[in-house]
Amino acid sequence: MAEDSAARPFYTVLVLAFFCSALVAGAAVGLRPLQEANRVIDRQKHILYASGLYDPGKTIAEMFTPIETRVVELATGEFVPEDTIQPETYQQTKAALSEDRGREMNKDEDIANLRRQEKFSLVYLVMDGDDISQIVLPVRGKGLWSTMYAYVAIDKDLTTIQGVSFYEHGETPGLGGEIENPDWQDKWQGKKVYNEEGEVGLEFAKGEAATQEPDRFYQIDGLSGATLTTKGVEKTMEFWFGDHGFKPFLQQLKNKGLVNR
Ligand SMILES: Cc1cc2nc3c(=O)[nH]c(=O)nc-3n(C[C@H](O)[C@H](O)[C@H](O)COP(=O)(O)O)c2cc1C
Repeated sequence: MAEDSAARPFYTVLVLAFFCSALVAGAAVGLRPLQEANRVIDRQKHILYASGLYDPGKTIAEMFTPIETRVVELATGEFVPEDTIQPETYQQTKAALSEDRGREMNKDEDIANLRRQEKFSLVYLVMDGDDISQIVLPVRGKGLWSTMYAYVAIDKDLTTIQGVSFYEHGETPGLGGEIENPDWQDKWQGKKVYNEEGEVGLEFAKGEAATQEPDRFYQIDGLSGATLTTKGVEKTMEFWFGDHGFKPFLQQLKNKGLVNR
């Protein structure tokens, strides 16, 4: 093309734009496996935070050794064989949107405001030799602005909370965003999910939690200036530890004598 051609700058920009977009697309595709691997490591870190096993002096793989990852059918609470669903590759929030592995919820049951729920969930069993010492469960629910994701670790007594770790949300920093504050998460330790009647009794106070019995076993401080986020967390727990969440699974563990042996 002649150097003084009017079309020259146009074609130069076109070629450059094409080259750059190919470069960006190539990088995005090429880096995807790395991003996925980092996402898995980040999730494992939060499972370790929740269960109190995190130790900065060790690698994630080392710390994860006593943890068995399994898939359960939520409706029955039964374990799903690995050749039916592989825990390593199962993406449960995506499954919620699928026709065969997800389901639409009606308004009455959908107290965590999720609209759809997966039929199968990952669960993490913290093993002490052949015995289960803790169960770490993934939960999620709507806060004020966003879906909040967390892991909750439950003791082998199937009601006492060992820890919690919120790992993804879009609540306001300093207000609802305080769900990720370790000081607030520490207040969950030792609280009980289920009351004497076997219903979810865990609740969040407006302000400071009760100090008298029996409420002190079930109440956690609410987040100040973030009543709606706190309500969302309460509903998230009520949903995931109720009949449509992990309650059938926890009952199966008890019935089959897999805990409290
Ligand atoms: C910019 C802005 C961001 C807010 N972010 C949150 C939030 O993340 N979570 C929340 O519960 N309330 C948030 N609020 C406050 C709510 O609108 C509402 O006032 C509050 O939940 C009431 O809680 P309180 O009774 O503890 O003040 C926000 C308000 C404003 C103006």
